[in-house]
Amino acid sequence: MPNGDALIDCRGVTVRFGGVTAISNLSLSIREGEILGIAGPNGAGKTTLFNVISGHVKPVAGEVLFAGERISGLPPHKIFQRGVARTFQLADVITEQSFYANVLVGAHFAKDRGLRGMFRFGAGSYVAADTAAERYGLGNRLGIRGGTASLFERKMIMLASAMAHKPSVLLLDEPVGGLSEEESDTLLEHVQRIAAEGTTVVVIEHVMRVLTSVAQRLVILNRGELLFDGAADDAREDKKLQELYFGSTAEV
Ligand SMILES: Nc1ncnc2c1ncn2[C@@H]1O[C@H](COP(=O)(O)OP(=O)(O)O)[C@@H](O)[C@H]1O
Ligand SMILES: [Mg+2]
Repeated sequence: MPNGDALIDCRGVTVRFGGVTAISNLSLSIREGEILGIAGPNGAGKTTLFNVISGHVKPVAGEVLFAGERISGLPPHKIFQRGVARTFQLADVITEQSFYANVLVGAHFAKDRGLRGMFRFGAGSYVAADTAAERYGLGNRLGIRGGTASLFERKMIMLASAMAHKPSVLLLDEPVGGLSEEESDTLLEHVQRIAAEGTTVVVIEHVMRVLTSVAQRLVILNRGELLFDGAADDAREDKKLQELYFGSTAEV
């Protein structure tokens, strides 16, 4: 059950790439147990926000706290090991390795094994990879080379890999982009189950009707700033958003 405590707290985060300010003094709390939807036009800073939380991009100002402790400044694998997992907008897999090996890598590196344990895959990693692969519908294609995976399969491999050690938070960057309606539905059912089982979920998606079908709370970014933060139902009433999202030409 959501208890409303901030699990991730972004405080005054600013990110610049050369002359471009991708995120500008952004403060945002992600509450334990919620499904938070993030929307906004292309270039709004959505992916950059995930990159800051996951440690792939360092902010020039501000900080990110996870469960009350500062994580900004830590390398991505340390943040993953603390329990913050993510998927990427482009579904990459290791093409030369099997579906199974791809999931195993996630299952293994989700735990801090120190320098000596790093390259020795123990029973715990195999069990976690087996369970995740089965759960995400990869069970009968485990031996197949990653390079032959369809877009949907690549997304499921990425999800299974991220979920293998049951993270506290899962960040999904446009998880249904490019999928058929049926594949999207399957993926969103997984997302809802993941949340129901206690993982806090943050999902970026630019198609509003997909987002409002899973998220209770919406955050809308525009040019690196927070344009809206509130209940999904209230977003439709918001004047600023109507122009951006609910106008006649907007994709809803
Ligand atoms: N690695 C990068 N190098 C330079 N500019 C970047 C980089 N990542 C993002 N940007 C720029 O930052 C802004 C926000 O990008 P992004 O976070 O990818 O937006 P969104 O995911 O909302 O489409 C854009 O202007 C983009 O061009
Ligand atoms: Mg993006």
